[in-house]
Amino acid sequence: MKRTLLSLAMLLLGVGATAQEITLKAQKQYLNIPISHKQNRERMTLEVDGKPERTFNIRIAEGEPDYWVFCDIAEFKGKQLTLKYPRHAAGLDKIYQADEIAGQDSLYRERYRPQVHYTQRRGWNNDPNGLIYYEGEYHLFYQHNPFEREWENMTWGHAVSRDLVHWQELAPALHPDHLGTMFSGSAVIDYDNTSGWGEKGNPAMVAIYTADGARQTQCVAYSLDNGRTWTKYEGNPVIDSGEKWATRDTRDPRVFWYAPKGHWVMVLNERDGHSIYTSADLKAWQYKSHTTGFWECPELIELAVDGNPENKKWVMYGASGTYMIGSFDGEKFTPEAGKFYYVRGNIYAAQCYNNIPAEDGRTIQIGWGQINHPYLPVNGMMTFPTELTLRTTRNGVRLYSYPVAELAKLQELKGNWANLKAEEATAKLKPYDKEGALLIKTTIRLSHATSAGISLDGQNIVDYDMNRNTINGTFYSPDEIGSMELKMTLLIDRTSVEVYIDDGTYSYVMERRAHNSSGFNFWGNNIMVKELEVSTLRSIWE
Ligand code: FRU
Repeated sequence: MKRTLLSLAMLLLGVGATAQEITLKAQKQYLNIPISHKQNRERMTLEVDGKPERTFNIRIAEGEPDYWVFCDIAEFKGKQLTLKYPRHAAGLDKIYQADEIAGQDSLYRERYRPQVHYTQRRGWNNDPNGLIYYEGEYHLFYQHNPFEREWENMTWGHAVSRDLVHWQELAPALHPDHLGTMFSGSAVIDYDNTSGWGEKGNPAMVAIYTADGARQTQCVAYSLDNGRTWTKYEGNPVIDSGEKWATRDTRDPRVFWYAPKGHWVMVLNERDGHSIYTSADLKAWQYKSHTTGFWECPELIELAVDGNPENKKWVMYGASGTYMIGSFDGEKFTPEAGKFYYVRGNIYAAQCYNNIPAEDGRTIQIGWGQINHPYLPVNGMMTFPTELTLRTTRNGVRLYSYPVAELAKLQELKGNWANLKAEEATAKLKPYDKEGALLIKTTIRLSHATSAGISLDGQNIVDYDMNRNTINGTFYSPDEIGSMELKMTLLIDRTSVEVYIDDGTYSYVMERRAHNSSGFNFWGNNIMVKELEVSTLRSIWE
């Protein structure tokens, strides 16, 4: 019955199928497409009014789809769309257009959907890209495969938020083109119209990204409507340096305005480290310097030490998050200390927001949460936004990362206790151990220099071994060397746990994997739970 209705609907919507081609008039917002991982990827071309518009690799289902994905076709309304596929696949006939995506009813309420982290409705994500605040919106672009829950067809996905907590997914911003697929990059607002792409009173938002084609080259695109639609620069690529470096690996441009010298700075990962380029107009770039020892996704940010604006330092990091502290004169980064790490685990390719208003002044970071979602048509997520700070420690200045204050918007405080035995603390958490999302702040005091911590459903979230000085296997020595206490903030979602140790001097992201249903358990030789605070977190999708 349903099937007949569907066919009828398709007929009415003007979907007609031949062996390898589907033509329809675009009338709705989405094309819904059935996917099966039993099929190999094959190349599909989308033509608009007879002209090739996009090509992508996709596994069209033959039989029962594993899940449905969608292609946003709103921009083509009224035009003739043709989908070309190398062979006839049964699933081609099932493609239909609608104003809702297939599975809309359960969207964001699926059992394993992260509740306090951004995930795209369908498909894959990796790195956050083009993080920029503009006119009340935090933009989150990201490495995205709209057509499958695995990496492929790199496209810039796009979402916006007004509070860094609640997100709205928009249509993808940048699609693969003749120069390649859309790899990572950044975004700026060209307030002085150095590029000439702005209009009076409407500066251009400019995206600087890598095209991954025959070579990896750097390209630019601009938007005059707050990132909704983009025009690629006809002079792309603006940097093509693979030959010079004798490598394929030149990518992930991170651009910002350097006010003291009035020029643009690009940090670009080239082969063995981060290069600095400068430009007056975002189009012509001059190579200036290089810092070896980093791989992918550069970041270079200036931070006030202990909040003192008179004492600023620059931090350079790569995709893994290991960092150097140093100085920067607009053309060359000079390392003074490092490399250190502040974050480990399932986080990668983190980037900081450009253009945060001066009166806010925070440095806000989002990373790729490398979290698999075996039960969703989605893989990956974004880590919860954190504020980065530089603080003086016994060992020198170090980078801290801690969830942004906006997290409090989701928080419902449930209880607050002091000086509990491990069993008592475990019992206090019992009512909450089936909750989807929780924020737990706790400090434990050890009585022996052995191991102690907290587990959830048999998985050790924190395993602090004071004998070996490790937390979950990674070396950790508290600022107060002989401290018998460990302070932790745990941000627990359905599929991930983020742990912030001692106010964020060290943090990590992990997949949440239940081994049993034992709930929370504080453990360790005669430990005391000095402080325990638990809050439930409202879903960001409510
Ligand atoms: C890092 C990375 C980047 C690249 C992108 C491709 O995760 O490999 O270097 O631009 O992902 O998706």
